Amino acid sequence: MTSGGDSFYITTPIYYPSDLPHIGHGYTTVAVDTLARWHRQAGDDTWMLTGTDEHGQKMLRAATANGVTPQEWVDKLVEESWFPLLRTLDVANDDFIRTTQARHEERVQQFVQALFDRGYIYAGEYEALYCVGCEEFKPEAEIVDGTGPFEGLKVCAIHSKPLELLQEKNYFFKLSEFQDRLLALYKTQPDFVRPDSARNEVVSFVKSGLKDLSISRSAFDWGIRVPWDDSHVIYVWVDALLNYATAVGYGTDPEQFDRRWPAYHVVGKDILRFHAVIWPAMLMAAGLDVPRGIFAHGWLLVGGEKMSKSKLTGIAPTEITDVFGADAYRFYFLSAIAFGQDGSFSWEDLSARYQAELANGFGNLASRTVAMIDRYFDGVVPAAGAAEEIDLRVQRVVADAATNADAAIERFRPDEAIDAIWTIVDELNGYITENEPWALAKDEAKRERLSTVLYTAAEGLRALAVLLSPVMPASTAKLWDALGAEPGLGELTAQPLRAAGSWGQLPAGATVTPLTPLFPRVEQPA
Ligand code: MSP
Repeated sequence: MTSGGDSFYITTPIYYPSDLPHIGHGYTTVAVDTLARWHRQAGDDTWMLTGTDEHGQKMLRAATANGVTPQEWVDKLVEESWFPLLRTLDVANDDFIRTTQARHEERVQQFVQALFDRGYIYAGEYEALYCVGCEEFKPEAEIVDGTGPFEGLKVCAIHSKPLELLQEKNYFFKLSEFQDRLLALYKTQPDFVRPDSARNEVVSFVKSGLKDLSISRSAFDWGIRVPWDDSHVIYVWVDALLNYATAVGYGTDPEQFDRRWPAYHVVGKDILRFHAVIWPAMLMAAGLDVPRGIFAHGWLLVGGEKMSKSKLTGIAPTEITDVFGADAYRFYFLSAIAFGQDGSFSWEDLSARYQAELANGFGNLASRTVAMIDRYFDGVVPAAGAAEEIDLRVQRVVADAATNADAAIERFRPDEAIDAIWTIVDELNGYITENEPWALAKDEAKRERLSTVLYTAAEGLRALAVLLSPVMPASTAKLWDALGAEPGLGELTAQPLRAAGSWGQLPAGATVTPLTPLFPRVEQPA
């Protein structure tokens, strides 16, 4: 555990386990993991949470269709698919919450009871069109006429599946009372919702007026019971949003709750309104702090469409990691897509970037620098001689890259952080080409110059390993090892990130060991 820095608590959405993990879930998860690793390594008091959203009608139906109880169904999926996803993608989460855990269920009841006691919940009659795919009563704008087999029916604009008319007694949360307070929040805290496009959408949605929210269901029982009326279960979204609070001790461990809360939530733009409207209103009603901020990222598109399991465009993360490795997965999705915008995935683009940026750009730089120190200095990192302008330029690029990358991470822009760090890769590759160490090595009189050039390259790699470790933990650990950095500097993940740009940390005299390619050539997938 690191301590002394600011608290930084960050979450992924909790995923529906009935869908198998696809690269869209993986995208959110690695983005959050990279941001968390960065802050952790920078000394902030970091906590990363992910988990699964296990109640609701969708889960119940899937379990019934498979002839098992819902609990058996979710247990199997979480064990066989969702825990393994974290290993597949090398995710260092601090906790994993499942909404069927007692620590969650009991505290959700406590929270809903508190809202009831404060007068924010009332009973009413409800009749509306519900989409089980979204687990949501659909607003008019998202209801369209069905086509093909669904001709004549009303369907969900997202799922293209028929909506169900539900008529029941429901409990309602007085969401409509929070319109002004929410608008004031977006105004006084302009980066509460990011990016700006997401913020604008939320502001105009709230300005158009809020309806009270149905927060209970009585037609089925796979959920958390309403504490004062056990013929109802709590609406799955109210249950799910509360995971962010129950996981850090809401209602049980005030010390932990004070230390962690409030959180930053990173979500796909599909679930922005739940997080930026309903969730802060629920917290306000309970008298708790609203989140620090909500960041909505875009969709991964495959063949121009939002990738999803139900539309059969789903790609499992292992299809990519089995060929390219977890680091390449992390690097690719975080660097190729502007965080906050949609991005298209294609195997061609992935292969091309793997080859150009990882294998030829970064990997090759690392192997040849280490190989030259091995060959010309018997594997011992030489001390640098007097620095020339060209050497000082490398030092400046490294310092700027470190500062700019940290600023980009503060803005929740891992893509811009990687761009900033990549200036070091490009600078060092150019530096080696210009200085031609292989030519310097032929002339004994240029020994000092050769030392300076190879020290500069090795120290630049030291900075790269530190700055890229949150993005690519495995290959940077391998590089750290090859640079012989650990005896002098300690473990890679213990290197203070915000000091990564200060020059001259790698001690002369460190012993390098030859490096097998960080990003080996891959067989092109069919
Ligand atoms: N269970 C709810 C979330 C509750 S949070 C309190 C849910 N789950 S989900 O399994 O459908 O996952 C939604 C999240 O997965 C999205 O918000 C997004 O983070 C990620 N993605 C799912 N499909 C995606 C793409 N095609 N592209 C990018 N991210 C995607 O909604």
